[in-house]
Amino acid sequence: MAHAIESGILGDGKIRALDGLSASGLRPRRWLRELPEDAAARLIATAGDMDQNSLDWGAATEAEFPSGRGELHSLLGDLRTSVLSQGWHWIDIDPFGSPVPFLDTAVQALARRGVLEVSATDTAALTGSSKNPLMRRYGARVRLDKLKHDSGLRVLMATVARAAARHDRSITPLLSIWDSHHLRVSVQVRRVMGGANDIEASLGWRVFSPDQSEVDASVAAGLLPADSGSDLPIRCFLPLSHPVARGDKRVSGPMWIGPLGDADTMASMSQERALELCGPAAGEAEDPACWSEKQFEAERRRVARAVRNIAEESQAIDAAHLIAVDELSSWLERGSPPSPAKMVAHLQKQGHCAAVSHYAEPSFSTDAPWSAILAAFDEITAGE
Ligand SMILES: C[S@@+](CC[C@H](N)C(=O)[O-])C[C@H]1O[C@@H](n2cnc3c(N)ncnc32)[C@H](O)[C@@H]1O
Repeated sequence: MAHAIESGILGDGKIRALDGLSASGLRPRRWLRELPEDAAARLIATAGDMDQNSLDWGAATEAEFPSGRGELHSLLGDLRTSVLSQGWHWIDIDPFGSPVPFLDTAVQALARRGVLEVSATDTAALTGSSKNPLMRRYGARVRLDKLKHDSGLRVLMATVARAAARHDRSITPLLSIWDSHHLRVSVQVRRVMGGANDIEASLGWRVFSPDQSEVDASVAAGLLPADSGSDLPIRCFLPLSHPVARGDKRVSGPMWIGPLGDADTMASMSQERALELCGPAAGEAEDPACWSEKQFEAERRRVARAVRNIAEESQAIDAAHLIAVDELSSWLERGSPPSPAKMVAHLQKQGHCAAVSHYAEPSFSTDAPWSAILAAFDEITAGE
């Protein structure tokens, strides 16, 4: 949010921000307390929930520990309708389970240019373990494999994009993260007819163990770098227009096949910046919890860990390959899993774009052709 405000994507006036399913309003109070002073002063933050008791707890906490900046309001009611009570520049949706019931009205309630942040805790559905709810809620299927969290994020992103398109909006992904029990995507939403019509170009399929004709189709669509080698990659994306068999267990989608984040936004999320904004330091402010020095240190480590690799990954966010190193060595049936950092350093030395990923599995992203990835693998594992 600090980056979105500072980069000007929310204009230069007041910012109406709604945490739509806020429980006791922890997030809006953190916005007010942790944003830089100038940004917080522009914020009219609202904590929404259908549970009066939760909102009362939030108000009581704010009374005891006032944020002292911006404004804090509450909005009681069912978010599916209460969100339409005014226009918002920022809406956060953090439900128990699936966000799908809240998307249509949230998109309609956004200002001409706004940001939507969507969490989903129905991880079993989105990552392909619960196939029926996945098909029912998201109209998709996901192969349960090493990239299941990435596929789940892409299915969620496609669902948000389609909701936006239904209301003549287009999205630009800002950030997508998986964090133990939830998936979360943040997108900029703009009211543009043409953009909404282009949505099909960003949707498609992910195919495990593609054959030569699928790899050729992926290269022809610009979804995979051309390669002079004869080995085929573990996976590739295919455009939505490519015919896929309904029962083909190798196929996941439809899903978002464009970048899952915005390079500038991700680059702004360095560990230093996260600590500066959100890392509590002993003796800096009042401390009602009476933490020890050690507890402050542990919390600062947690804050830094939460954004690990996000800034670095910004350099390869539009790369064609996300590769889990465990899967790479078992796919090749040789060597042991190489360190993602070594693979990245090697590929970068060869002039390719590569970065260690902020992902559930030790992995890296790269735009290198498959044969260059294999050459890097062989060189690194030969030296180990
Ligand atoms: C997962 S919790 C939110 C947690 C909160 N965002 C946080 O970080 O502490 C979901 C909240 O949504 C509220 N809720 C569920 N359905 C709702 C609806 N249709 N409209 C408004 N609030 C709803 C629940 O009362 C609950 O407080």
